[in-house]
Amino acid sequence: MGDSMRFADFERIVFFTGAGLSVESGIPTYRGKGGLWHEYNYEDFACQRAFDRAPDRVWDFHDKRRAAIGACAPNEGHKIIADVQRENSRTKIITQNIDGLHQRAGATDVVELHGSIWRIRCDACFRTELSNETPLGERRCSCGRYWRPDIVWFEDALHDKTVRAAEQALVECDLFVSIGTSAVVYPAAAMPQIAQRAGATLIEINPEETQASHLYEHPLRGPASAMLRTLI
Ligand code: OAD
Repeated sequence: MGDSMRFADFERIVFFTGAGLSVESGIPTYRGKGGLWHEYNYEDFACQRAFDRAPDRVWDFHDKRRAAIGACAPNEGHKIIADVQRENSRTKIITQNIDGLHQRAGATDVVELHGSIWRIRCDACFRTELSNETPLGERRCSCGRYWRPDIVWFEDALHDKTVRAAEQALVECDLFVSIGTSAVVYPAAAMPQIAQRAGATLIEINPEETQASHLYEHPLRGPASAMLRTLI
């Protein structure tokens, strides 16, 4: 880019990440070419109604995703973000991804807006557990109810605590870097505006323009890792 911005020029960086960041790890996006929601109808696999109707079918789908994601490794983009955070511990990561790759790259303090495929919860006894067993051995909690993936499915509300943690980071940030998100799913889609109102510098990393591109003064059009590298 023309002006030579660097991560080191900023004190409170927020990385706001979506499926595009994990493309280089081999995980498909949701909406673009080859996107998951072209192959699978979310109404059959990613909403509470589908789960109530056919929990085993929904679990088969999530077991398949756990296996696919578990076979992938964090890519250079995830590693650059983790390095920036290691250099500056005030760096926050707000992700819409459920794949856990930020943490596997060494990042901490990751706000997972849409939950995690590696967490399961029981809505009868309100237990939440981490589990990377693939496929999940026991689909039912000891109380008899099915575990469900602790993912924010379509029509689910986000967890209040998660949204508050994200908003706190956003109102304090001086650099907001969006990476690989189509920016269509609310409330995540409103987050760039919060950073903008806070006076942050806004960078969008995405090979394509998005519905939110007009908000960003610094578009970086290219794949995540190569574009992140220009900011080191
Ligand atoms: P989308 O699939 O909607 O968008 C992915 C974005 O990544 C697109 O804008 C692509 O142009 C961009 N992209 C593709 N390859 C890239 C690369 N190599 N580097 C950088 N960007 C690239 O994914 P999200 O915006 O993350 O919800 O979707 C938001 C939510 O909708 C997801 O969290 C998911 C889905 O339903 C849940 O799983 C709960």
